[in-house]
Amino acid sequence: MNDTYERLLSSATLTAEFINECIKEDNLLLLICHNDADALSACGIMVGSLWRSDARFLARSVNRIDEFFQQLDESSADADCIIFLDLGSGYVKEIYNKVGEKKVVIIDHHQPQNFNIPKCYVHFNPHLEGLEGATHISASGLAYLVSKVLNEENYIYSSIAVVGALGDLQDKDGQRRLGGVNAKIVEEAIDKGLLQVMDDLILFGRSFRPIHAALASTSNPFLPGLTGREDVCYSLITSLGIKVKDGDRWRVLTDLTEEEKSKLYNGIISFLASRGLPASSIARELIGAVYELREEERWTYLRDAREFAWLLNACGKTGNAWMGIAIAAGVRGGILEEAQKLLEEYRVQMAKNMELLTRPESVVSMENVIVFNGGDLIDERQVSSLASLISSSGMIPQDKVLIAWARYGNRIKVSARANRSQVEKGVNLGSILSDVANIIGGRGGGHNIAAGADLPADMLEQFLREVDKRVGSQLRT
Ligand code: C5P
Ligand code: C5P
Repeated sequence: MNDTYERLLSSATLTAEFINECIKEDNLLLLICHNDADALSACGIMVGSLWRSDARFLARSVNRIDEFFQQLDESSADADCIIFLDLGSGYVKEIYNKVGEKKVVIIDHHQPQNFNIPKCYVHFNPHLEGLEGATHISASGLAYLVSKVLNEENYIYSSIAVVGALGDLQDKDGQRRLGGVNAKIVEEAIDKGLLQVMDDLILFGRSFRPIHAALASTSNPFLPGLTGREDVCYSLITSLGIKVKDGDRWRVLTDLTEEEKSKLYNGIISFLASRGLPASSIARELIGAVYELREEERWTYLRDAREFAWLLNACGKTGNAWMGIAIAAGVRGGILEEAQKLLEEYRVQMAKNMELLTRPESVVSMENVIVFNGGDLIDERQVSSLASLISSSGMIPQDKVLIAWARYGNRIKVSARANRSQVEKGVNLGSILSDVANIIGGRGGGHNIAAGADLPADMLEQFLREVDKRVGSQLRT
């Protein structure tokens, strides 16, 4: 990886130099980011860095790139340079057709479209340097590399880059641990005293939350029957003979002996197995590296990096992306309190969404894909998180690709998720969704393991049939 890493750093330098020139010319910069944890982390890093550089800028999050195209005139008319974060690579041609010869910077990790960019564009993408954008580095890592060239002091954002990568589930490449360029960023954050990494059970808040509360708040993997159910978690833990209190003090996971931890782990496996779930493969996802942000207060949802990512998702997927951007940039106080409430509500909402899965009419099985039909019952902004939760929960057959969808107006939002073994067999959801959505007048793209699309509602059936067929042929060649 050393050569490719060096190339990535050179590309980060070129990108930073381009942005620096814009700052020197007193340009107005317009940041456009997506709405998930990685995007808000990337945008927060850029916002914090541009503050430090005294730049003039505006930042805006969109649910999809079409939203930017639709409001192009009002949002970009005055901007001298548009910086896309966590979106754009799959739509370079469309951006050029809409924006033309304006200065454009794309900082993104999605599979890039093959298109010759004009001189006034900079495209910073790991795929262009021979790296993988689904596991080696995410948009927040890329933004961090650029920010460090802008000013060394921006190393403070190394832990936010880790939050973004975890938000995009880049730790799911075989074991629950960040690898590739992400691992280098983790090392930098540890060296600077910002991050602490331990091998343990991956329960949210392992060092500061009562064990049953830590187990109940763990959402990746989603543990059916346990996630969101403190009462059930409490009963399970006590039934295993594990003491939940030491005198008046709640015990936390780090207080447990190795023997107690393995009792807990086996107890979780038995609980899931008793519900007919593929318990061992879900529980395997519960062991790995835990990332804690040392400078965050223990009572906040920011201490555990995976939970921090959930908080950012809660902001982005409820129309409050600005809060997430501010928090990623370093703002705390009242905004953090508001965001923590949003996270609590979001958890309840996601648990309700998961319950819809148990309705027979919600799930339709095709030959190679299983379809979760969210209809009008799911907020289209939450389909993506829901798809990731369902696919981590073991509640769907492991031999099928998951497609979840919801309707908004006369459009459909689709999120598709494969598992590692399907990707190893050749499934590339990003290219399938991009091609099929294009054919039927929609837009799609993403990574091999996770992709999404937006389509006209009346094309849904045709879309599903075609995706099912293409997944089948990729699985069998
Ligand atoms: O736009 P972006 O690349 O940031 O989003 C990636 C999406 O793919 C995230 O929603 C993440 O949760 C999802 N994902 C997943 N399973 C994986 C890897 C990514 O659901 N193994
Ligand atoms: O929306 P969701 O998280 O399911 O998308 C999975 C991946 O596909 C993300 O990386 C997202 O940015 C990408 N995507 C895309 N074009 C779309 C929808 C999603 O590139 N129209």
